[in-house]
Amino acid sequence: MPPSDAPIALRGVGVTYPGGTRALTDVDLEIRSGEIFGVIGESGAGKSTLLSLLTGEMAPSEGGVAVLGADPTALDPVALRALRRRIGVVFQGVHLLANRTVRQNVALPLQLRGRRGRADSAARRDLVADVLRFVGLDGRADAYPAQLSGGQRQRIGIARALVARPDILLCDEPTSSLDAGTTDGVLALLREARDQFGTTVVVVTHDLAVVRRVCDRVALFEAGRLRDILSVRPDTGHGTESYLDRARRELGT
Ligand SMILES: Nc1ncnc2c1ncn2[C@@H]1O[C@H](COP(=O)(O)OP(=O)(O)OP(=O)(O)O)[C@@H](O)[C@H]1O
Ligand SMILES: [Mg+2]
Repeated sequence: MPPSDAPIALRGVGVTYPGGTRALTDVDLEIRSGEIFGVIGESGAGKSTLLSLLTGEMAPSEGGVAVLGADPTALDPVALRALRRRIGVVFQGVHLLANRTVRQNVALPLQLRGRRGRADSAARRDLVADVLRFVGLDGRADAYPAQLSGGQRQRIGIARALVARPDILLCDEPTSSLDAGTTDGVLALLREARDQFGTTVVVVTHDLAVVRRVCDRVALFEAGRLRDILSVRPDTGHGTESYLDRARRELGT
């Protein structure tokens, strides 16, 4: 695959699952540094499969994938772990560990880095405090996941994905099942991550309004094929609108 400056590049990518399901066909795609890139398409279009190629969880059946300059499937386990540390992942219905506090959940990716020592643990505490402030939940650091609302849990999931300051943030349906106001908060966080840290963000969603609000460009997938890439017209409005104001605007006459 020819070298590319883009943090994410796919060339001629096809994926066939064992058993024969064709999930992606002939996908060419470059995602630019620091952009918020949407991926949309109906259920089964291949969106999650695309993400699993980027984490190295799956290898393409044809073609090549480059993530931060490396082919994830060509890396040895140590190098793959190093690459994955530079990629944050947020899934729908984040999986937080129920028996650990918010602070401990968010610190997890830093512990998996395996560094020890007092200086490191102080630095870790600072990183966790910073990112909890960033998502607006520093007051809940000692709460357990069950004591949080779904929206707060999603913010903690984002905090955990961002705590190690990844170069790339992958989000699979980060706002489904959240109400409109909470969705706005989560989307604002994605945008701020990009603005403050320069994170390249990929957002898989069914929701066109999400794309409208946050994405710079969007890829349209249909039955495993990339049909189109659009530049998204900036959303002119309603960003800071309250939940009730939005309900009035959208539902009222
Ligand atoms: N582990 C798997 N084994 C076999 N087939 C799979 C597997 N995972 C996904 N598929 C198939 O690959 C195709 C693409 O699936 P994928 O999960 O990427 O779709 P998606 O766009 O994420 O859909 P959704 O919006 O429902 O999450 C589907 O036909 C699906 O049934
Ligand atoms: Mg999916």
